[in-house]
Amino acid sequence: MFILHASEPDNLAHYLKKNDWTSKDATLLSLTKAGEGNMNCVLRVTTNTDSFIIKQSRGYVEKYPEIKAPENRVLTEAEFYTKISTAPNLGDRMPKILGLDPTNNIMLLEDLGHANDFNLIYKLDQSISNDDITVLVHYLNELHQRFSKLEANDELANLEMRKLNYEHIFHYPFLEDNGFDLDTIQEGLQALATLYKNDAILKEKVEWLGTHYMANGHYLLHGDYYPGSWLQTADGIKIIDPEFCYYGLREFDLGVFIAHLHLSNQNPSIIDKIATEYNNYHELNPAILNGFIGVEIMRRLIGLAQLPLQSDLKDKQKLLAFAYQLITN
Ligand SMILES: Nc1ncnc2c1ncn2[C@@H]1O[C@H](COP(=O)(O)OP(=O)(O)OP(=O)(O)O)[C@@H](O)[C@H]1O
Ligand SMILES: [Mg+2]
Repeated sequence: MFILHASEPDNLAHYLKKNDWTSKDATLLSLTKAGEGNMNCVLRVTTNTDSFIIKQSRGYVEKYPEIKAPENRVLTEAEFYTKISTAPNLGDRMPKILGLDPTNNIMLLEDLGHANDFNLIYKLDQSISNDDITVLVHYLNELHQRFSKLEANDELANLEMRKLNYEHIFHYPFLEDNGFDLDTIQEGLQALATLYKNDAILKEKVEWLGTHYMANGHYLLHGDYYPGSWLQTADGIKIIDPEFCYYGLREFDLGVFIAHLHLSNQNPSIIDKIATEYNNYHELNPAILNGFIGVEIMRRLIGLAQLPLQSDLKDKQKLLAFAYQLITN
């Protein structure tokens, strides 16, 4: 088994040559962390001729090794990249896949350059532009329409990743004694969260939404469509990291997308723009869409996958109350 390690460039140089991924006389100049990420080991390889990204998935979450994760998840991510690679308006919005080693769960990707992701929008007063929203909605239009199926089936089922996500979105945040002291994030957040953790009506709705998340659907989803998956590159917005992809309900991608616009306090008109620009918005199930928006807002405030939010306790209280209405109405 080859284990990718930022501090072992010589081993990597040997591994790359063995796989014919670099030429015999290529020299590895640097090996650095590609950017911020929690789940996997993602490095930028620079040689004397080019640079590329190398991503390895392991049997655990990179940042929290005590949390198990499906070891070969990068293979599903690679399947997604391969599937959409030739589709107009999708392939060129994502990095090209350059190589895959299924034995070691390693994927090589085109380097999109040093680029910020959109996590900057959580900073107060950072707004997302109308043009950015248009690009982000059009990506979902293409993905959901072009790859839709008449019948739900098992392609890209990604069941183990879905179970992991289910746990962190629909279950863990709502457990009263989950061992995560929210006061370490912000004083008073634990008491605020307890109100919701004890709400039977809310918990029933969240469970219902969870079954919809787990159900197979007709639409290919990115599965993690939030600002951390959007890169601001010299060549425009690029979308990365479809490791949670599967065939499911369109409402899930849209729900996550919209939730993060609320979490980052964007102008309501920007959020309305999604409704006008998303094709067939009127076909969506409002209870499911609103529910997914609400659950994503809640789990980002009271679950483990915290965001670099600047909001104070009062802002969070308002957001939680808003999310509660979305889920229970
Ligand atoms: N093809 C690429 N070109 C340039 N930079 C990239 C590329 N792929 C990843 N990165 C950088 O590396 C970071 C981590 O990558 P990625 O999101 O794929 O990892 P991850 O471990 O799956 O992250 P997460 O924990 O958010 O799921 C990205 O935020 C980005 O900054
Ligand atoms: Mg990821």
